[in-house]
Amino acid sequence: MAAKLLLFLFFSFPFLLQFHFSAGQNPVRGGYWSADSEFPVSDIDSTLFTHLFCAFADLNPQTNRVTVSAANQPRFSSFTSTVRSRNPNVRTLLSIGGGNSSPAGFASMASQASSRKSFIDSSINLARSYNFHGLDLDWEYPSTRTEMNNLGLLLNEWRAGLNNESAVTGRPKLLLSAALFRNSDYYTLLYPIQAIRNSLDWINVMAYDFYGPGWSNVTGPPAALYNPGTQVSGDYGIRSWIQSGIPANKLVLGFPFYGYAWRLVNANNHGFFAPTSGAAITPDGAVSYAQIRTFIAQNNAVEVYNATVVSNYCYAGTTWIGFDDTQSIRAKVSYVKQNGLLGYFAWQVGADDNGTLSRTASQAWGSRQLVAM
Ligand SMILES: *[C@@H]1O[C@H](CO)[C@@H](O)[C@H](O)[C@H]1NC(C)=O
Ligand SMILES: *[C@@H]1O[C@H](CO)[C@@H](O)[C@H](O)[C@H]1NC(C)=O
Ligand SMILES: *[C@@H]1O[C@H](CO)[C@@H](O)[C@H](O)[C@H]1NC(C)=O
Ligand SMILES: *[C@@H]1O[C@H](CO)[C@@H](O)[C@H](O)[C@H]1NC(C)=O
Repeated sequence: MAAKLLLFLFFSFPFLLQFHFSAGQNPVRGGYWSADSEFPVSDIDSTLFTHLFCAFADLNPQTNRVTVSAANQPRFSSFTSTVRSRNPNVRTLLSIGGGNSSPAGFASMASQASSRKSFIDSSINLARSYNFHGLDLDWEYPSTRTEMNNLGLLLNEWRAGLNNESAVTGRPKLLLSAALFRNSDYYTLLYPIQAIRNSLDWINVMAYDFYGPGWSNVTGPPAALYNPGTQVSGDYGIRSWIQSGIPANKLVLGFPFYGYAWRLVNANNHGFFAPTSGAAITPDGAVSYAQIRTFIAQNNAVEVYNATVVSNYCYAGTTWIGFDDTQSIRAKVSYVKQNGLLGYFAWQVGADDNGTLSRTASQAWGSRQLVAM
């Protein structure tokens, strides 16, 4: 009876779902928007997200300040108001760095108290002047023990800076997250776990780029959730973070809205770990989900979902593409819920095919309450 009533209420008043979560940290149904994608900010269906990351602001290695290039300023400064026009509750974070930025600049900035302060103060000023709700660090990657220690100092001082700014101005605290490697150690170099736990609101775990033609001469599941016998899977990474001392409810699982295309050596050998002779379709093989759906339609490609690994792939002739389609996304969102993680994020919304994967993830998350009852 009570269950029936609850079921009725949940069906009838979706806003109660929000209430259900209000006791703890807000869940993250996140997506990055990349300025490089040229995807118009106004085309993001922000109703499918709780948090949107605007990528990327840069670190100026001379001044150690956070900057936004002149070309990006119009879109960055209006990002929050644009995405809030469709969803007034969505929260936005300014993401700093990224895979194409120099890790040496971050290492140098983080090595001195004075340059850390320049970085932190400028990040807060920029976030406030552009009306972001938070900041996100994407330093790929600290690669020595000293750099890992300095990352810890940076995070602790950043947290103190955000707390101070909020106390002095009376404004709600800015959020602070970081996109980190899939595992809690970057090739045997452990992240500064205590600083991460104490200073970040959550971690975006980059559980993708496991296999790609640039570094693997066999096909592979680029963002496998499971990959028995290896340390290369989303599940392995999440468990490593939990074992190192990060609570599950600070972990946000990342999945890609893109895949990798290889050229098969033999068109008849088209499973995982089949020999290849390099990239297909693009120079590095990276292809957006929208491009993959077009490729499948135009080439009548064979589509396979492997539920053991949690990965999709397709092939036509000697072209083979590994990626996440709707089945993989649903299985990963279900994993997030079952393991009590804080949420998920996608890289990046402009690669989606008219919102198909964003909607799939959002809807898979929405079924949580019904499952829980
Ligand atoms: C505290 O925040 C205020 C307002 O943002 C700033 O002027 C001040 O420098 C900050 N103090 C420290 C120690 O960071
Ligand atoms: C593929 O890469 C592996 C590991 O780097 C190497 O041992 C193997 O010889 C390579 N195979 C081909 C066909 O290039
Ligand atoms: C899924 O992939 C794994 C790893 O390659 C393989 O062992 C398994 O047979 C595949 N499952 C199916 C149903 O093809
Ligand atoms: C894109 O998605 C929307 C919402 O589901 C749908 O109404 C529209 O027809 C789609 N457009 C295309 C070109 O598929």
